[in-house]
Amino acid sequence: MSIAKVGINGYGTIGKRVAAAVSKQDDMQVVGVTKTRPTFEAADAAERGFDIYVPEESLQAFKDAEIKTAGTIHDLFKKADIIVDCTPGDVGEKYKAEYLAAGVKAIFQGGEDHGLAGVSFNSTANYRDSWGAQFSRVVSCNTTGLIRTLCPIDREIRVKNAYVTVVRRAADPGDSKLGPINALEPSVKLPTHHGPDVQSIMPWLNINTMAIKASTTLMHLHTVVAELGRDADTAEVLGILKSAPRVRLVKSKSGIKSTAEIMEYARDLGRDRSDMYEIVVWEDGVKVVGNTLYFYQAVHQESDVVPENVDCIRSMCKLEEDAVTSVEKTDKALGIAKR
Ligand SMILES: NC(=O)c1ccc[n+]([C@@H]2O[C@H](COP(=O)([O-])OP(=O)(O)OC[C@H]3O[C@@H](n4cnc5c(N)ncnc54)[C@H](OP(=O)(O)O)[C@@H]3O)[C@@H](O)[C@H]2O)c1
Repeated sequence: MSIAKVGINGYGTIGKRVAAAVSKQDDMQVVGVTKTRPTFEAADAAERGFDIYVPEESLQAFKDAEIKTAGTIHDLFKKADIIVDCTPGDVGEKYKAEYLAAGVKAIFQGGEDHGLAGVSFNSTANYRDSWGAQFSRVVSCNTTGLIRTLCPIDREIRVKNAYVTVVRRAADPGDSKLGPINALEPSVKLPTHHGPDVQSIMPWLNINTMAIKASTTLMHLHTVVAELGRDADTAEVLGILKSAPRVRLVKSKSGIKSTAEIMEYARDLGRDRSDMYEIVVWEDGVKVVGNTLYFYQAVHQESDVVPENVDCIRSMCKLEEDAVTSVEKTDKALGIAKR
């Protein structure tokens, strides 16, 4: 079996999680991570045993901070088979020419435009579209959430139109700079970009989105109203969602009434960084009337795209031909059990 050599460029919220997830797979290994500043995250990466690569001009700062470096960022590009670019939105674009020059594959994240890679990725919807590709892009946390639930429903019943409101967390928990801290802020540029982003993978889907930024850091929450291709009943949709990969049904009746209890549940599951990789749907909040489906779902923005990045590496590096097998392998390694 060949082992893919993976470099992580950008060791922040997403990058550190992807590094940990890749380390748990038996067909890929982390050959290094990048840091531009010798922060606590750099020290943590070193403690976890990751080789750290830095910009040439930062070498001295890391030396002064007594954090060992393995070389420059460009050295990592030469060493890796594939780079998972987890730099902040729009920074990945600046690196594309360097990946091309180094002849290394690269995965971009949802903060970059679809056009940068030319192909966007979701494990269930289009695993094979990235097969052997030099570049691909794992769509954003919200887009991943919408595709995880709408794609299986569309395959079984067809979704004629979807109307979604995205209630967005204002910042990640580790971020003290962003807000609002006591307000709700509607996105007035309508429809929002979330619908077109879903269409980068499901171009045939009619989807209309609005968004509100809310003063919470835990999770995003979506309200979804979908016009189905035919009349259905609630039990049929619940059956589809129960067997959909990386979707977890919870019950308000059992005490999970909000994103707060979901995060508490994630802590109880004992996973790395208390992550909830699955899209969480309230079972008792799913309802079909005629051909209209209503449901709510919560998205753990820090982690739902992490298993998708692992599967995308497998597709691009031709490690596993079959999407279902890759998803099962990733989920087993990350402790995502179907319930
Ligand atoms: N957080 C989310 O909710 C979320 C969810 C899904 C997708 N995404 C997407 O994932 C990507 C990364 O987001 P994130 O939330 O992980 O961002 P983040 O927490 O800000 O992490 C990005 C890291 O990149 C490093 N960095 C900055 N400039 C760099 C450069 N020029 N070269 C190399 N590294 C650099 C920074 O660390 P140092 O400068 O200290 O090295 C920073 O910690 C974005 O495209 C974002 O849209 C984010």
